Amino acid sequence: MYQALYRKWRPKTFSDVIGQSHITETLKRQVAEGRTSHAYLFTGTRGTGKTTCAKILAKAVNCEHPVDGDPCNRCPSCLGIENGTFLDVLELDAASNNGVDQVRALRDEAIYSPANVKKRVYIVDEVHMLSIPAFNALLKILEEPPEHLMFILATTELHKVPATILSRCQRYSFKRITPQDVSRRLSFVARQESIDLRPDGAELLSRLADGALRDGLSLLDQCAAAGGVIDAQTVLDVLGLAGNLQTAQLMDCVLRRDAKAALLLLNQLYAGGKDVGAVLNELSTLTRDLLLRRTAPEGGAALLSGGFDAATLDKLEKDVPGSRLLYIWRPPYSGPPPISTTAPTGEPTRSCVF
Ligand SMILES: Nc1ncnc2c1ncn2[C@@H]1O[C@H](COP(=O)(O)OP(=O)(O)OP(=O)(O)O)[C@@H](O)[C@H]1O
Ligand SMILES: [Mg+2]
Ligand SMILES: [Zn+2]
Repeated sequence: MYQALYRKWRPKTFSDVIGQSHITETLKRQVAEGRTSHAYLFTGTRGTGKTTCAKILAKAVNCEHPVDGDPCNRCPSCLGIENGTFLDVLELDAASNNGVDQVRALRDEAIYSPANVKKRVYIVDEVHMLSIPAFNALLKILEEPPEHLMFILATTELHKVPATILSRCQRYSFKRITPQDVSRRLSFVARQESIDLRPDGAELLSRLADGALRDGLSLLDQCAAAGGVIDAQTVLDVLGLAGNLQTAQLMDCVLRRDAKAALLLLNQLYAGGKDVGAVLNELSTLTRDLLLRRTAPEGGAALLSGGFDAATLDKLEKDVPGSRLLYIWRPPYSGPPPISTTAPTGEPTRSCVF
């Protein structure tokens, strides 16, 4: 059966995890020195390595021959945990039900020592979805956990986890993965899989991934399914993003104050079935990206939408003052009709992009 790239390429050691060395180095050291905590909380945006690190940690604390805090992935413990045959390492998905029965059952079995390994590890994914009774049951175990237990909670929504739980866990925040790191990883995976991913394709995919390596790998999967070379054009075609180029053209007309060309292009898009609201949204995203690049050319890169490439943005933004971009970005005027149609600055008061 075909296995999705992101599952096939899930890192098996801390050293393989990308872009989270502030976490992986600490965890490795704790394992190597035998000073792990009984409860961890992994937070951060989707697809950045939380579940991956939880699984590696579960193996590392039980591994018979850990290497510098990394699991060996060869001993019976590592293998049993990896293929899910050991019931001592359990993954609960709080999202699939509110978890109270599972957490209660877990509390009842918690007193028994694990059968096959040193520590019984419970990985509770999407922990913020637990119901209040389930949180309370969990809290009881977290208060006085037996030596042989370890909890690894993971969530994308930290603010929904009660403070009583937070204060009993060591907390680790997973960062968005930089486009450079995503691009490097995608190129690596592509090479191993004999996928012909070109540098411009990798660059575009890494921007679209928006910091989530899982998303990057899923997009690569989607493009690879089409077969052949994957360059920026293929990515645009396969993912149906060719429209972004037209949005950029439309913006170019707006910035040049060429109403005729803008209307012709808009008419083309409209006739092609494009929703006018969607066009406006794209224009607004593009304006935001242009403003960001203008205001913070270096540091703002991570905040860009990812839908428009650097060359397009540079070309558009060249001579436009920031104040005009801000003006274009403003929501349409919605109050009573203005008395004068000209503001003191000389700009029309109604929000009109021209
Ligand atoms: N830091 C990373 N280094 C290498 N691969 C990663 C990393 N983060 C994610 N991946 C890739 O993405 C897949 C999914 O990652 P993972 O399940 O760990 O994400 P997550 O943070 O738990 O996301 P979610 O919040 O959606 O549950 C992994 O199997 C792996 O292929
Ligand atoms: Mg996860
Ligand atoms: Zn091992």
